[in-house]
Amino acid sequence: MSATFLETMAGGVNAMLKSAAEESGRPVPDEAKGSRYLLNCWYLAAWAHEFETTGMVARTICDTKIVLFKTGNEITALHDMCSHRFAPLSRGKLVDGGVQCLYHGLRFGPDGRCAHNPHGGISPAMQVRHYPTIRAFRGVWIWLGDPALADVALLPDLRCLDEELPARSDRGAYTHGGANYMLFIDNILDPTHVDYLHYSSTGGGSVEGAPQTVTDEGPAIKLTWVKPNQRLMPMELKLGNISLDGFSEDTPIDRHGESVWFPPCTLRTKVGFGKHGGPPGVAHVGVHIMTPETAETTHYFWVFTRGMVHPEDDAFHERFNAARADVFRDEDDSILEAIQRNMAGREFFSLHPTLFPTDQAAIRFRRKLAAMIKAEGPAG
Ligand code: FES
Ligand SMILES: [Fe+2]
Repeated sequence: MSATFLETMAGGVNAMLKSAAEESGRPVPDEAKGSRYLLNCWYLAAWAHEFETTGMVARTICDTKIVLFKTGNEITALHDMCSHRFAPLSRGKLVDGGVQCLYHGLRFGPDGRCAHNPHGGISPAMQVRHYPTIRAFRGVWIWLGDPALADVALLPDLRCLDEELPARSDRGAYTHGGANYMLFIDNILDPTHVDYLHYSSTGGGSVEGAPQTVTDEGPAIKLTWVKPNQRLMPMELKLGNISLDGFSEDTPIDRHGESVWFPPCTLRTKVGFGKHGGPPGVAHVGVHIMTPETAETTHYFWVFTRGMVHPEDDAFHERFNAARADVFRDEDDSILEAIQRNMAGREFFSLHPTLFPTDQAAIRFRRKLAAMIKAEGPAG
C-alpha cells in the first residue's frame, strides 16, 4: 500500500531533521525528550578563566561536541571531531595557533581549515566546522546556528557582571547538572521550592505565599515577589550575615526577589531584604546559566555578586559560594535528577502536570521557548 500524504510529509520532515543534525554530529532532535534546541542564539560555553591552564576546553553543547581553544586574545570553537578518523581534537594539543590531532597530527587553524598535514597535501575537504564565538560577561559564548545570523545584540543582559561586582569578586562557578536544562530553569523561576527543598539551608518559610508578578519584557520574562515580616534565613545566620549593622536573628525584615529569564537559558536574579516596612535595603545579584549539554544533562554556570554583605572579605565569599555549591549539588541537582528519571524521556506537558498559580513564570518560559524553537523550523 502506498504511503499516505501525511506519512510522506512526516518522512520529509524527519529527513530534514536528520540531515541538519548529522551535519553537526548531533543526534536527531527529539522535541519530547528536550533535545530539540534553539540554535540561532548564544550559549555560554565556558567561563573565561577556564582557559588559563591549558588554553583548551572540550564541552558538549546541545548534543554537539565542541573544542574551544585560545588563539591570542580570541577563543575559537570547532567541532571536536577530526576530518581524518574522527578523533576528538580536544585530545590533541595547541601548536602554532591551531589544534593538532593526537592521532596522526593533522592541524586545524582557528577557521577550522587544515593548516598542516604531515602526510601530504591539503585539500578543501580537510576541515571541521567552525562556530562563531564572542567573549562577554566573563565568559565565552557560542552560536550553534546559522553563522550569518550571529548577532551580539542577542546576548542576554548581564551587564550586572561588569558593573555590580567588586573587581576581586568571584569569576564564575560551574556545576554539572544531571537533568534537562529546562528543569533547572524551572527551579530558578520557582522560589516556592526554597521553603521545602532548602528548608534547613536557604529556606524556612521565608518565600512561601509571597505574591508574585510575572511580566513580559521583550523576549525576556520577569518574575518579582515580596514577602513581608520575615526573619533571616538559616544559611545567612550560619554564615554570619547578621553582622550587618542593625540586624539580628529577631529583626523583622521584608524579603524581596526578582528573576529575569533571557532566552534560551540565562537567568538574572536579585534577592535581598530590608527592615520591615522600610526601603528594600541590600540585595544579592546572581546569574544562573543553564547551557544544555544533552537532553538529560546541563552545564550549570553561576555567579553571585557581593552586594549583600562583606564585599571585601574573600574568605567569607569562599565560604558563601561553597555553601551554595553544596545546596545546588545536594538539594537542587539531586531532586532534578530524580525528576528527570521519573519523566523517563516524556515531554513535560504531555504528563499533565498539576499547576500552581506560582508556576506562571515557569510555564510561560517553556511556552515562549517552544514557540521560538518552532519558528526556527525543522533545522532546530
Ligand atoms: S584522526 Fe586526526 S589526523 Fe588522523
Ligand atoms: Fe533551589
